[in-house]
Amino acid sequence: MIFERVLVAGAGQMGAGIAQVVAVSGRQVLLHDPFPGALDRGFETMRKSLGKLHEKGGAAPDDVLARVTPVEALVDADLLIEAVVEDADAKKELFRDADLALGPEAVLASNTSSIPITELAAVTSRPERVIGMHFFNPVPVLSLVEVIRAEQTSDETAAAIVEFARDLGKTPAEANDFPGFVSNRILMPFVNEAAYALMEGVAEAEAIDTVAKLGFAHPMGPLALADLIGLDTCVAIMDVLHDGLGDPKYAPCPLLRRYVAAGRLGRKSGRGFYDYG
Ligand code: CAA
Repeated sequence: MIFERVLVAGAGQMGAGIAQVVAVSGRQVLLHDPFPGALDRGFETMRKSLGKLHEKGGAAPDDVLARVTPVEALVDADLLIEAVVEDADAKKELFRDADLALGPEAVLASNTSSIPITELAAVTSRPERVIGMHFFNPVPVLSLVEVIRAEQTSDETAAAIVEFARDLGKTPAEANDFPGFVSNRILMPFVNEAAYALMEGVAEAEAIDTVAKLGFAHPMGPLALADLIGLDTCVAIMDVLHDGLGDPKYAPCPLLRRYVAAGRLGRKSGRGFYDYG
């Protein structure tokens, strides 16, 4: 399996980051996002990030961006990487459409943080060619790619995607298709517990994050990290853990839900646990 032409669906922070690292690897990228203004914002995100990397000896931003073509519809490619909103119905619809738009040999990968890959595979005519390829934000900086096999994924598809991730300069870690996989099975309860600690008045947000940064040597505290990920995404992931594992310990913290209901989504809306002006 050779992935030279890669279609990235979704030009948000994850989609733009994925498009960028694939283009940096020398491949052709087709970037699709039907939301007005999303492609422009995606290109701006890539240009900013490439500028920072160029200062440290990375490729010239214009050379990389010349390999990224915006497309108005899903088009044929060797590989689709989907990074649309973290919603099972939206992702299933995208996979149904991609199954029709891409040739039968193409692999369909999802960057989902928690939605079962097995369910996405089941809506396509090529379940053995469906897989999870979970990148971490900021994608150009963090080297992990969690590779998740659906129940139906073939050994050949899994091996090809592991090799592709390595070729992007990433380190793959393979996981099976359980709710939250490895990363969010561990990370999200940590973020959720930090939200409970804040809600119950155990400490102020800054103190909670300082404990994680200085006490556990994390690069950022769980509340600042939740703001980076998006509080709506955090709630969506907790819902998947709660529904999929059936244990009340995974119920999203009411404070997280309240902030999301109020439009406090984190950095992307200007306010979450912290204020970003
Ligand atoms: N593109 C290119 N370079 C970037 C960048 C980007 N998008 N973002 C940061 N950088 C660079 C900066 O230019 C800086 O470079 P120098 O050291 O050469 O100056 C370097 O990275 C560090 O950045 P900052 O100085 O701005 O700040 P920092 O040291 O706090 O690092 C961070 C920022 C990389 C985001 C770091 O705090 C970090 O790794 N945080 C944890 C992030 C994390 O855990 N992400 C995973 C979230 S979970 C997820 O994504 C998946 C899910 O399923 C929810």
